[in-house]
Amino acid sequence: MGVYDQGVMFASEMDGVDPLKGIRQEFYLNDEVIYMDGNSLGLFPKAAEASLLRVLEDYKRMGIDCWTKTNPQLFLYQDHLGALMASLVGASPEEVTIMSNTTLNLHSMIATFYKPSAERFKILVDDLTFPTSRYAIESQLRLKGLAPEEALKEVKSLDGRTLDEDRLIEAMTEDVAIAVFPSVLYRSGQLLDVARLTQTAHERGIIIGFDCCHGVGAVPHEFSKWDVDFAVWCTYKYLNGGPGSNAALYLNKRHFGLHPGLAGWQGYVKDKQFDLLNTFEPVRNAGGWQSGTQNIFSMAPLEGSLELFNRVGVENIREKSLKLTDYLMALIDDKLTGYGFSVGNPREPHRRGGHVALEHSDAVRINQALKDNGVMPDFRAPNVIRLAPIALYTSFTEVFRVVETLVRIMDEKLYENYSSMRGTVA
Ligand SMILES: Cc1ncc(COP(=O)(O)O)c(C=O)c1O
Repeated sequence: MGVYDQGVMFASEMDGVDPLKGIRQEFYLNDEVIYMDGNSLGLFPKAAEASLLRVLEDYKRMGIDCWTKTNPQLFLYQDHLGALMASLVGASPEEVTIMSNTTLNLHSMIATFYKPSAERFKILVDDLTFPTSRYAIESQLRLKGLAPEEALKEVKSLDGRTLDEDRLIEAMTEDVAIAVFPSVLYRSGQLLDVARLTQTAHERGIIIGFDCCHGVGAVPHEFSKWDVDFAVWCTYKYLNGGPGSNAALYLNKRHFGLHPGLAGWQGYVKDKQFDLLNTFEPVRNAGGWQSGTQNIFSMAPLEGSLELFNRVGVENIREKSLKLTDYLMALIDDKLTGYGFSVGNPREPHRRGGHVALEHSDAVRINQALKDNGVMPDFRAPNVIRLAPIALYTSFTEVFRVVETLVRIMDEKLYENYSSMRGTVA
Protein backbone atom coordinates (compact mmCIF):
# COMPACT_ATOMS: atom_id res chain seq x y z
CA MET A 1 0.00 0.00 0.00
CA GLY A 2 1.42 3.39 -0.99
CA VAL A 3 1.36 6.49 1.17
CA TYR A 4 -1.53 7.97 -0.87
CA ASP A 5 -3.72 4.96 -0.08
CA GLN A 6 -3.18 5.54 3.61
CA GLY A 7 -5.51 8.47 2.97
CA VAL A 8 -6.16 11.77 4.59
CA MET A 9 -6.31 10.19 8.07
CA PHE A 10 -2.59 9.55 7.86
CA ALA A 11 -1.97 13.21 6.98
CA SER A 12 -4.17 14.30 9.82
CA GLU A 13 -2.20 12.09 12.23
CA MET A 14 1.00 13.76 11.04
CA ASP A 15 -0.61 17.15 11.69
CA GLY A 16 -1.59 15.99 15.14
CA VAL A 17 2.01 15.39 16.17
CA ASP A 18 3.46 18.40 14.31
CA PRO A 19 5.26 20.60 16.88
CA LEU A 20 4.73 23.68 14.65
CA LYS A 21 1.01 23.16 14.08
CA GLY A 22 0.02 26.12 16.29
CA ILE A 23 2.08 28.61 14.28
CA ARG A 24 -0.37 28.45 11.39
CA GLN A 25 -2.84 30.57 13.38
CA GLU A 26 -0.32 33.37 13.42
CA PHE A 27 -0.73 33.93 9.67
CA TYR A 28 -3.40 35.42 7.46
CA LEU A 29 -4.68 32.42 5.53
CA ASN A 30 -7.55 32.11 3.11
CA ASP A 31 -9.58 29.06 4.11
CA GLU A 32 -10.71 28.58 0.50
CA VAL A 33 -7.19 28.26 -0.91
CA ILE A 34 -4.31 25.91 -0.19
CA TYR A 35 -1.37 28.26 -0.57
CA MET A 36 1.64 26.53 -2.16
CA ASP A 37 3.32 29.69 -3.44
CA GLY A 38 5.22 30.84 -0.34
CA ASN A 39 8.46 30.44 -2.27
CA SER A 40 7.35 33.29 -4.52
CA LEU A 41 5.40 35.53 -2.15
CA GLY A 42 4.98 34.29 1.40
CA LEU A 43 1.79 34.84 3.38
CA PHE A 44 1.60 37.61 5.95
CA PRO A 45 2.20 36.88 9.65
CA LYS A 46 0.01 38.81 12.10
CA ALA A 47 3.19 39.85 13.88
CA ALA A 48 4.39 41.49 10.64
CA GLU A 49 1.18 43.46 10.41
CA ALA A 50 1.59 44.50 14.05
CA SER A 51 5.13 45.81 13.59
CA LEU A 52 4.12 47.68 10.42
CA LEU A 53 1.15 49.29 12.18
CA ARG A 54 3.25 50.16 15.22
CA VAL A 55 5.78 51.99 13.08
CA LEU A 56 2.98 53.77 11.24
CA GLU A 57 1.41 54.85 14.55
CA ASP A 58 4.78 56.10 15.79
CA TYR A 59 5.18 58.22 12.69
CA LYS A 60 1.61 59.55 12.90
CA ARG A 61 2.15 60.61 16.50
CA MET A 62 5.71 61.85 16.35
CA GLY A 63 6.43 63.10 12.84
CA ILE A 64 10.16 63.51 12.42
CA ASP A 65 10.86 62.40 15.97
CA CYS A 66 9.99 58.87 14.85
CA TRP A 67 13.57 58.55 13.57
CA THR A 68 15.07 58.81 17.03
CA LYS A 69 12.42 58.40 19.72
CA THR A 70 10.96 55.02 18.82
CA ASN A 71 11.95 51.65 20.19
CA PRO A 72 13.73 50.28 18.23
CA GLN A 73 15.03 53.56 16.86
CA LEU A 74 14.07 53.95 13.20
CA PHE A 75 17.30 55.79 12.45
CA LEU A 76 19.09 52.47 13.10
CA TYR A 77 16.28 50.21 11.90
CA GLN A 78 18.29 48.51 9.14
CA ASP A 79 20.89 47.48 11.69
CA HIS A 80 18.23 46.26 14.09
CA LEU A 81 16.58 44.12 11.42
CA GLY A 82 19.96 42.90 10.17
CA ALA A 83 20.73 41.67 13.69
CA LEU A 84 17.36 39.87 13.84
CA MET A 85 18.18 38.23 10.49
CA ALA A 86 21.73 37.19 11.45
CA SER A 87 20.79 34.04 13.37
CA LEU A 88 18.93 32.65 10.36
CA VAL A 89 22.06 32.79 8.24
CA GLY A 90 24.77 31.98 10.77
CA ALA A 91 26.28 35.45 10.77
CA SER A 92 27.31 38.07 13.30
CA PRO A 93 24.74 40.87 13.67
CA GLU A 94 27.04 43.49 12.16
CA GLU A 95 27.58 41.36 9.04
CA VAL A 96 23.93 41.65 7.94
CA THR A 97 21.87 44.62 6.91
CA ILE A 98 18.50 45.15 5.26
CA MET A 99 18.35 47.40 2.21
CA SER A 100 16.87 47.98 -1.25
CA ASN A 101 16.29 44.83 -3.31
CA THR A 102 18.30 41.72 -4.14
CA THR A 103 19.34 42.98 -7.55
CA LEU A 104 20.69 46.28 -6.24
CA ASN A 105 22.46 44.56 -3.38
CA LEU A 106 24.22 42.35 -5.90
CA HIS A 107 25.15 45.45 -7.91
CA SER A 108 26.59 46.92 -4.74
CA MET A 109 28.70 43.82 -4.07
CA ILE A 110 30.04 43.55 -7.61
CA ALA A 111 30.79 47.28 -7.62
CA THR A 112 32.73 46.73 -4.39
CA PHE A 113 34.67 43.59 -5.23
CA TYR A 114 35.18 43.74 -8.98
CA LYS A 115 38.64 45.10 -9.69
CA PRO A 116 39.56 43.44 -12.98
CA SER A 117 43.21 43.05 -13.94
CA ALA A 118 44.68 41.83 -17.22
CA GLU A 119 45.03 38.33 -15.70
CA ARG A 120 41.91 38.12 -13.52
CA PHE A 121 38.89 39.77 -15.06
CA LYS A 122 36.12 37.19 -15.45
CA ILE A 123 32.94 36.81 -13.44
CA LEU A 124 31.78 33.22 -13.20
CA VAL A 125 28.06 32.37 -13.30
CA ASP A 126 25.81 29.47 -14.29
CA ASP A 127 22.93 29.34 -16.75
CA LEU A 128 20.22 28.39 -14.23
CA THR A 129 20.50 31.29 -11.79
CA PHE A 130 17.54 33.70 -11.71
CA PRO A 131 18.43 36.03 -14.61
CA THR A 132 18.45 39.31 -12.69
CA SER A 133 21.95 38.32 -11.47
CA ARG A 134 23.07 38.06 -15.06
CA TYR A 135 21.59 41.43 -16.00
CA ALA A 136 23.27 43.09 -13.03
CA ILE A 137 26.65 41.46 -13.61
CA GLU A 138 26.67 42.22 -17.34
CA SER A 139 25.89 45.86 -16.67
CA GLN A 140 28.72 46.00 -14.11
CA LEU A 141 31.10 44.56 -16.70
CA ARG A 142 30.01 47.21 -19.19
CA LEU A 143 30.61 49.92 -16.60
CA LYS A 144 34.22 48.75 -16.54
CA GLY A 145 34.39 48.91 -20.34
CA LEU A 146 34.36 45.12 -20.71
CA ALA A 147 32.14 43.10 -23.03
CA PRO A 148 30.13 40.32 -21.37
CA GLU A 149 31.16 38.03 -24.24
CA GLU A 150 34.77 38.20 -23.04
CA ALA A 151 34.43 38.75 -19.31
CA LEU A 152 31.41 36.67 -18.33
CA LYS A 153 32.15 32.97 -17.90
CA GLU A 154 29.15 30.68 -17.82
CA VAL A 155 28.84 27.08 -16.69
CA LYS A 156 25.97 25.39 -18.48
CA SER A 157 23.78 22.83 -16.78
CA LEU A 158 23.88 19.43 -18.45
CA ASP A 159 20.24 18.57 -17.78
CA GLY A 160 18.61 22.01 -17.71
CA ARG A 161 17.60 21.44 -14.07
CA THR A 162 20.60 21.07 -11.86
CA LEU A 163 24.20 22.19 -11.55
CA ASP A 164 27.12 19.84 -11.00
CA GLU A 165 29.42 21.33 -8.34
CA ASP A 166 32.44 19.55 -9.89
CA ARG A 167 31.87 21.48 -13.11
CA LEU A 168 31.42 24.78 -11.26
CA ILE A 169 34.73 24.09 -9.54
CA GLU A 170 36.43 23.11 -12.78
CA ALA A 171 35.47 26.53 -14.15
CA MET A 172 37.19 28.35 -11.25
CA THR A 173 40.27 29.11 -13.31
CA GLU A 174 43.01 31.70 -12.77
CA ASP A 175 41.26 34.33 -14.89
CA VAL A 176 38.15 34.33 -12.62
CA ALA A 177 37.89 37.28 -10.23
CA ILE A 178 34.42 36.67 -8.75
CA ALA A 179 31.99 33.74 -8.77
CA VAL A 180 28.26 34.23 -8.13
CA PHE A 181 25.93 31.26 -7.67
CA PRO A 182 22.57 30.61 -6.01
CA SER A 183 22.35 28.66 -2.75
CA VAL A 184 19.04 27.14 -3.93
CA LEU A 185 18.04 27.16 -7.61
CA TYR A 186 14.77 28.95 -8.22
CA ARG A 187 13.34 26.41 -10.65
CA SER A 188 14.51 22.94 -9.64
CA GLY A 189 15.02 23.75 -5.96
CA GLN A 190 18.53 22.21 -5.98
CA LEU A 191 20.56 23.18 -2.90
CA LEU A 192 24.22 23.71 -3.74
CA ASP A 193 27.16 22.79 -1.53
CA VAL A 194 27.97 26.39 -0.59
CA ALA A 195 30.75 25.40 1.84
CA ARG A 196 32.65 23.38 -0.75
CA LEU A 197 32.27 25.97 -3.50
CA THR A 198 33.46 28.70 -1.15
CA GLN A 199 36.45 26.78 0.09
CA THR A 200 37.62 25.97 -3.43
CA ALA A 201 37.04 29.51 -4.68
CA HIS A 202 39.20 30.86 -1.87
CA GLU A 203 41.97 28.32 -2.50
CA ARG A 204 42.06 29.72 -6.05
CA GLY A 205 42.02 33.40 -5.04
CA ILE A 206 38.41 33.97 -6.16
CA ILE A 207 35.84 36.09 -4.33
CA ILE A 208 32.54 34.21 -4.06
CA GLY A 209 29.00 35.41 -3.39
CA PHE A 210 25.57 33.78 -3.38
CA ASP A 211 21.98 34.70 -4.26
CA CYS A 212 20.04 33.05 -1.44
CA CYS A 213 16.51 34.23 -2.29
CA HIS A 214 15.24 30.65 -2.44
CA GLY A 215 17.13 29.46 0.59
CA VAL A 216 16.91 31.82 3.54
CA GLY A 217 13.86 31.12 5.68
CA ALA A 218 13.55 27.54 4.41
CA VAL A 219 17.09 26.20 4.81
CA PRO A 220 19.63 27.15 7.51
CA HIS A 221 22.65 28.97 6.08
CA GLU A 222 26.02 29.23 7.84
CA PHE A 223 27.69 32.17 6.15
CA SER A 224 30.36 32.79 8.79
CA LYS A 225 31.29 29.11 9.11
CA TRP A 226 31.39 28.67 5.33
CA ASP A 227 33.31 31.95 5.09
CA VAL A 228 31.43 33.20 2.00
CA ASP A 229 32.46 36.69 0.93
CA PHE A 230 28.96 38.07 0.43
CA ALA A 231 25.35 36.99 0.00
CA VAL A 232 22.13 38.72 -1.04
CA TRP A 233 18.54 37.59 -0.65
CA CYS A 234 14.97 38.86 -0.72
CA THR A 235 12.55 38.82 2.19
CA TYR A 236 9.17 38.48 0.52
CA LYS A 237 9.34 34.75 -0.21
CA TYR A 238 10.10 32.39 2.68
CA LEU A 239 10.56 35.34 5.07
CA ASN A 240 7.04 36.71 4.65
CA GLY A 241 7.89 40.43 4.62
CA GLY A 242 5.12 41.22 2.10
CA PRO A 243 5.28 42.24 -1.57
CA GLY A 244 8.47 44.18 -2.25
CA SER A 245 9.78 44.09 1.32
CA ASN A 246 13.42 45.15 1.41
CA ALA A 247 16.18 42.67 0.73
CA ALA A 248 19.15 41.58 2.85
CA LEU A 249 22.90 41.73 2.46
CA TYR A 250 25.58 39.67 4.19
CA LEU A 251 29.14 40.94 4.07
CA ASN A 252 31.90 38.88 5.66
CA LYS A 253 33.62 40.89 8.40
CA ARG A 254 36.98 40.29 6.68
CA HIS A 255 35.82 42.91 4.18
CA PHE A 256 34.64 45.64 6.51
CA GLY A 257 37.58 47.87 5.59
CA LEU A 258 36.67 47.98 1.88
CA HIS A 259 35.21 51.07 0.29
CA PRO A 260 31.52 50.51 -0.59
CA GLY A 261 31.11 50.32 -4.36
CA LEU A 262 27.77 52.14 -4.39
CA ALA A 263 28.21 54.54 -1.49
CA GLY A 264 25.61 56.84 0.04
CA TRP A 265 25.04 58.93 3.13
CA GLN A 266 23.06 56.23 4.96
CA GLY A 267 26.30 54.24 5.13
CA TYR A 268 28.07 57.02 7.00
CA VAL A 269 29.38 56.52 10.53
CA LYS A 270 26.13 57.04 12.40
CA ASP A 271 27.08 59.64 15.00
CA LYS A 272 28.57 61.83 12.27
CA GLN A 273 26.05 61.21 9.46
CA PHE A 274 24.29 64.51 10.10
CA ASP A 275 27.53 66.48 10.07
CA LEU A 276 26.96 66.22 6.30
CA LEU A 277 30.65 66.42 5.48
CA ASN A 278 31.85 66.04 1.92
CA THR A 279 34.37 63.34 2.82
CA PHE A 280 32.74 59.92 3.01
CA GLU A 281 33.47 57.87 6.12
CA PRO A 282 31.63 54.52 5.93
CA VAL A 283 30.59 52.49 8.96
CA ARG A 284 33.03 49.59 9.23
CA ASN A 285 30.38 46.86 9.01
CA ALA A 286 27.67 45.77 6.55
CA GLY A 287 25.80 48.99 7.40
CA GLY A 288 28.50 50.93 5.51
CA TRP A 289 26.90 49.62 2.31
CA GLN A 290 23.52 51.23 3.03
CA SER A 291 22.84 53.93 0.47
CA GLY A 292 19.99 56.41 0.88
CA THR A 293 17.07 56.89 3.26
CA GLN A 294 15.58 53.63 4.47
CA ASN A 295 12.24 52.40 3.05
CA ILE A 296 10.79 52.10 6.53
CA PHE A 297 7.35 50.84 5.56
CA SER A 298 8.87 48.21 3.28
CA MET A 299 10.95 46.79 6.07
CA ALA A 300 8.74 47.24 9.16
CA PRO A 301 6.83 43.95 8.58
CA LEU A 302 10.13 42.13 8.80
CA GLU A 303 10.51 43.03 12.44
CA GLY A 304 7.48 40.92 13.39
CA SER A 305 8.26 38.23 10.87
CA LEU A 306 11.91 37.79 11.91
CA GLU A 307 10.94 37.68 15.58
CA LEU A 308 8.63 34.81 14.67
CA PHE A 309 11.44 33.01 12.84
CA ASN A 310 13.78 33.46 15.79
CA ARG A 311 11.15 32.14 18.17
CA VAL A 312 10.47 29.01 16.07
CA GLY A 313 14.08 28.42 15.01
CA VAL A 314 15.22 27.84 11.45
CA GLU A 315 16.40 24.28 12.26
CA ASN A 316 12.85 23.35 13.32
CA ILE A 317 11.50 24.98 10.17
CA ARG A 318 13.90 22.94 8.04
CA GLU A 319 12.98 19.72 9.82
CA LYS A 320 9.27 20.18 9.12
CA SER A 321 9.89 21.47 5.59
CA LEU A 322 11.80 18.30 4.72
CA LYS A 323 8.98 16.15 6.13
CA LEU A 324 6.39 18.07 4.10
CA THR A 325 8.34 17.81 0.85
CA ASP A 326 9.18 14.12 1.52
CA TYR A 327 5.48 13.46 1.99
CA LEU A 328 4.58 15.41 -1.15
CA MET A 329 7.14 13.52 -3.24
CA ALA A 330 5.91 10.18 -1.89
CA LEU A 331 2.33 11.10 -2.86
CA ILE A 332 3.50 12.18 -6.32
CA ASP A 333 5.35 8.89 -6.78
CA ASP A 334 2.31 6.94 -5.67
CA LYS A 335 -0.40 8.72 -7.56
CA LEU A 336 0.82 11.15 -10.20
CA THR A 337 3.58 9.48 -12.21
CA GLY A 338 0.93 7.52 -14.13
CA TYR A 339 -0.43 10.84 -15.45
CA GLY A 340 2.96 11.91 -16.83
CA PHE A 341 4.20 13.89 -13.82
CA SER A 342 7.75 13.64 -12.52
CA VAL A 343 9.79 15.21 -9.73
CA GLY A 344 12.43 17.56 -11.14
CA ASN A 345 14.28 18.45 -7.92
CA PRO A 346 17.06 16.38 -6.37
CA ARG A 347 15.71 13.90 -3.81
CA GLU A 348 18.45 13.87 -1.19
CA PRO A 349 17.70 16.20 1.75
CA HIS A 350 21.12 17.86 1.59
CA ARG A 351 20.58 18.69 -2.11
CA ARG A 352 17.15 20.27 -2.06
CA GLY A 353 15.52 23.43 -0.73
CA GLY A 354 11.94 24.15 0.28
CA HIS A 355 9.87 23.41 -2.82
CA VAL A 356 9.08 20.46 -5.03
CA ALA A 357 9.50 20.98 -8.80
CA LEU A 358 6.66 19.03 -10.35
CA GLU A 359 7.23 18.59 -14.07
CA HIS A 360 4.64 17.88 -16.74
CA SER A 361 4.47 18.61 -20.47
CA ASP A 362 1.08 20.31 -19.89
CA ALA A 363 2.23 22.23 -16.80
CA VAL A 364 0.84 25.64 -17.87
CA ARG A 365 -2.69 24.37 -18.21
CA ILE A 366 -2.56 22.15 -15.13
CA ASN A 367 -1.23 25.10 -13.14
CA GLN A 368 -4.24 27.19 -14.18
CA ALA A 369 -6.63 24.39 -13.35
CA LEU A 370 -5.07 24.14 -9.88
CA LYS A 371 -5.69 27.85 -9.32
CA ASP A 372 -9.37 27.46 -10.18
CA ASN A 373 -9.66 24.44 -7.93
CA GLY A 374 -8.51 25.89 -4.65
CA VAL A 375 -4.73 25.48 -4.87
CA MET A 376 -2.26 28.35 -5.37
CA PRO A 377 0.83 26.91 -7.10
CA ASP A 378 3.31 28.68 -9.33
CA PHE A 379 4.56 27.98 -12.80
CA ARG A 380 8.05 28.34 -14.23
CA ALA A 381 8.71 27.80 -17.92
CA PRO A 382 8.92 25.52 -19.66
CA ASN A 383 7.24 22.75 -17.67
CA VAL A 384 7.56 23.21 -13.90
CA ILE A 385 4.81 23.62 -11.33
CA ARG A 386 6.55 24.68 -8.14
CA LEU A 387 4.81 23.47 -5.00
CA ALA A 388 6.11 24.91 -1.74
CA PRO A 389 4.56 23.55 1.44
CA ILE A 390 5.66 26.07 4.07
CA ALA A 391 6.66 24.73 7.48
CA LEU A 392 5.11 27.66 9.34
CA TYR A 393 1.66 27.44 7.81
CA THR A 394 1.10 24.40 5.58
CA SER A 395 -0.41 21.23 7.01
CA PHE A 396 0.17 17.66 5.87
CA THR A 397 -3.56 17.46 5.19
CA GLU A 398 -3.22 20.34 2.73
CA VAL A 399 -0.39 18.52 0.97
CA PHE A 400 -2.66 15.49 0.63
CA ARG A 401 -5.45 17.70 -0.73
CA VAL A 402 -3.15 19.21 -3.35
CA VAL A 403 -2.34 15.78 -4.75
CA GLU A 404 -5.98 14.75 -4.54
CA THR A 405 -6.87 17.88 -6.55
CA LEU A 406 -4.23 17.05 -9.15
CA VAL A 407 -5.63 13.54 -9.51
CA ARG A 408 -9.11 15.00 -10.07
CA ILE A 409 -7.81 17.55 -12.60
CA MET A 410 -6.19 14.73 -14.56
CA ASP A 411 -9.06 12.23 -14.26
CA GLU A 412 -11.65 14.79 -15.31
CA LYS A 413 -9.27 16.43 -17.83
CA LEU A 414 -10.11 19.83 -16.31
CA TYR A 415 -6.87 21.30 -17.65
CA GLU A 416 -8.23 20.98 -21.18
CA ASN A 417 -10.46 24.01 -20.46
CA TYR A 418 -7.41 26.30 -20.38
CA SER A 419 -5.07 27.86 -22.90
CA SER A 420 -1.38 27.01 -22.82
CA MET A 421 -0.46 30.73 -22.65
CA ARG A 422 1.00 31.58 -19.27
CA GLY A 423 -0.06 34.70 -17.29
CA THR A 424 2.11 37.82 -16.86
CA VAL A 425 3.12 37.02 -13.29
CA ALA A 426 3.56 33.28 -13.46
C1 LIG B 1 16.68 33.64 -7.02
C2 LIG B 1 16.15 35.04 -7.19
N1 LIG B 1 17.01 36.08 -7.17
C3 LIG B 1 16.57 37.35 -7.32
C4 LIG B 1 15.23 37.62 -7.46
C5 LIG B 1 14.78 39.05 -7.65
O1 LIG B 1 15.05 39.77 -6.53
P1 LIG B 1 14.69 41.32 -6.39
O2 LIG B 1 13.42 41.56 -7.12
O3 LIG B 1 14.59 41.53 -4.91
O4 LIG B 1 15.80 42.10 -6.97
C6 LIG B 1 14.31 36.58 -7.48
C7 LIG B 1 12.86 36.85 -7.64
O5 LIG B 1 12.02 36.01 -7.72
C8 LIG B 1 14.78 35.25 -7.35
O6 LIG B 1 13.94 34.21 -7.37
